[in-house]
Amino acid sequence: ISSKSSGRTDLCSFSFPGQNCTFQLQGPNGTVESPGFPYGYPNYANCTWTITAEDQHRIQLVFQSFALEEDFDVLSVFDGPPQPENLRTRLTGFQLPATIVSVATTLSLRLISDYAVSAQGFHASYEVLPSHTCGNPGRLPNGIQQGSTFNLGDKVRYSCNPGFFLEGHAVLTCHAGSENSATWDFPLPSCRADDACGGTLRGQSGIISSPHFPSEYHNNADCTWTILAELGDTIALVFIDFQLEDGYDFLEVTGTEGSSLW
Ligand SMILES: *[C@@H]1O[C@H](CO)[C@@H](O)[C@H](O)[C@H]1NC(C)=O
Ligand SMILES: *[C@@H]1O[C@H](CO)[C@@H](O)[C@H](O)[C@H]1NC(C)=O
Repeated sequence: ISSKSSGRTDLCSFSFPGQNCTFQLQGPNGTVESPGFPYGYPNYANCTWTITAEDQHRIQLVFQSFALEEDFDVLSVFDGPPQPENLRTRLTGFQLPATIVSVATTLSLRLISDYAVSAQGFHASYEVLPSHTCGNPGRLPNGIQQGSTFNLGDKVRYSCNPGFFLEGHAVLTCHAGSENSATWDFPLPSCRADDACGGTLRGQSGIISSPHFPSEYHNNADCTWTILAELGDTIALVFIDFQLEDGYDFLEVTGTEGSSLW
């Protein structure tokens, strides 16, 4: 059974064995998340979100959280209505996807899950943008944003408060992407405490990087990160970048279950 809604009301109805749901969304902004997030989406799900903007506008989708059973459960993103010819990308696994900006005035998402195994699901926010703008890339916790226009060619500069250093690119430029889309050239940087080295992490997802990454870490570093999950949950660690001095510097990963030492 699928139920349709109009305007900004979300409706979702489930029936077994298929779990279909349909959402119609409009601007100026809002959020999209998988059913049951973050406690797991149903098996046999077939859920479709269609976000519609006015003419001369497009839709920016920013993921805050993403975890789908790799290769078996898939979120397809369509630049336009959810039809095969509009397929933009297929997302699966545990890596946070990059921001997606539509070319069309409609952006749709379809989550298909198989008969077994679920994960947290995904949570994303969307914003309707005029065609020539990149949208605000976001505020920086413990830092300052300079630049308040976000159109093609505009630059936004970030710096960190005293006691923090910047990780990532300090200057983002809004440039023309494929077709008539405008996108920031780099993701939002972050500010880290100067002496940050290790720590305890909780929550649905997060990022760990060596001190000063992507610059070099210092000599004699000895950092320990502890990731805590709820009882019964497992933790997936995905390496995006890895460079250590071969044979001398090392990263050890240990778990509380037996035989989980690498
Ligand atoms: C939409 O944007 C307004 C103004 O920027 C903001 O206050 C609000 O939280 C946003 N809503 C969502 C669902 O992101
Ligand atoms: C999902 O639902 C749509 C329409 O609601 C349908 O066209 C599509 O074939 C379904 N996909 C699967 C894999 O069941």
